[in-house]
Amino acid sequence: MNKKRAAVVGATGMVGQRLLLLLQNHPYFDVTVLAASANSAGKKYSDAIGSRWKLSIPCPDYAKDMTVVAADDIDCIKANADFVFCAVDMPKAEVKALEEAYAKAELIVVSNNSANRLVEDVPMIIPEINESHLSVIEAQKKRLGTKRGYIVVKPNCSIQSYVPALTPLLGYGIESISVTTMQAISGAGKTFDSFPEIIDNVIPYIGGEEEKSEVEPLKVWGNVVDGKIVPATEPIITAQCIRVPVSDGHLASVFVKFKNKPTIEQMLEAWDKFEATPQKLALPHAPAKFVTYIDEPNRPQTKLDRDIYGGMGVTVGRLRPDHLFDYKFVCLSHNTLRGAAGGGVLTAELLYRLGLLD
Ligand SMILES: NC(=O)c1ccc[n+]([C@@H]2O[C@H](COP(=O)([O-])OP(=O)(O)OC[C@H]3O[C@@H](n4cnc5c(N)ncnc54)[C@H](OP(=O)(O)O)[C@@H]3O)[C@@H](O)[C@H]2O)c1
Repeated sequence: MNKKRAAVVGATGMVGQRLLLLLQNHPYFDVTVLAASANSAGKKYSDAIGSRWKLSIPCPDYAKDMTVVAADDIDCIKANADFVFCAVDMPKAEVKALEEAYAKAELIVVSNNSANRLVEDVPMIIPEINESHLSVIEAQKKRLGTKRGYIVVKPNCSIQSYVPALTPLLGYGIESISVTTMQAISGAGKTFDSFPEIIDNVIPYIGGEEEKSEVEPLKVWGNVVDGKIVPATEPIITAQCIRVPVSDGHLASVFVKFKNKPTIEQMLEAWDKFEATPQKLALPHAPAKFVTYIDEPNRPQTKLDRDIYGGMGVTVGRLRPDHLFDYKFVCLSHNTLRGAAGGGVLTAELLYRLGLLD
């Protein structure tokens, strides 16, 4: 297969580091550009990252000697890459402008950032759920005046445990959802060393997260109408997002009410049978099973279950009836793998196999 050249923008960040590992020896992609802020530009990656490498797996050799370029050196990135993974910590307006500048330079952008998530002709993709939203890309290209360049985003990490668990149940008419997320510190780009105030503590506030957790699922479950994604108008979602002292993995406690209440057996069967194009095409980072139900009453546990299928699977447990809603359960996904870098890589793999990176 004809491999595509990938730029990793934000290569020194938490998501960027994960991207570098996931893209090592990738069958579809070669990493040809590493980009970050002006502070890192011009340095060898190993010097730019210094002691900031945060993952337990060491920095891959292929990246160490590459020279980091500035994220806004669009000519250089365009000359050396076919598409861009973008995960930067910058003000929203600047991220939006940067991603549009890449697209207008005819680069394809697979973004981990939130800046373009709610733009109606920008698909916000969970590859197993809303591949059909990719059809708006043509309308987006028209708006941007591009022949090839466009932006695809992935949703916030907080929703990627409960949206996969709820999607195969949508046929039963979900009326309302109450969800409380318990989110890892890597979601804030932190480790225990850089976030000591989280040790022996729970912080009941993550800026902007509850709004995203209530709004983004409705876009993911929306429909394409005239080149725009029209968000679903139901179910009603209410969310509370809490930072907890774990390194990786977002766990969600979910209560759900249906119009046509399924049985427990029907819910388990819906999860068991949930597969989509990534599984059918056996994409390199697709989990063999998207949603795995675990029977033990004390599972899923963040530490034990976050790495299922290389951190790309979602685990569910504790399904039982509820006397206020219909059912309650707990679900878990790895926030920097399925919820961030891995979700971006899987999206790019889907684009590649659909011919959308040509
Ligand atoms: N962490 C997660 O679990 C997670 C999950 C989903 C989405 N996200 C999103 O992914 C993005 C990156 O998050 P992160 O946790 O990886 O952040 P991070 O660890 O703080 O890394 C930020 C990256 O952005 C670069 N950067 C900062 N200012 C820049 C500038 N002015 N121009 C160009 N590059 C600049 C940094 O480069 P230097 O090293 O040179 O400063 C670094 O590579 C954010 O939008 C975040 O919301 C994160």
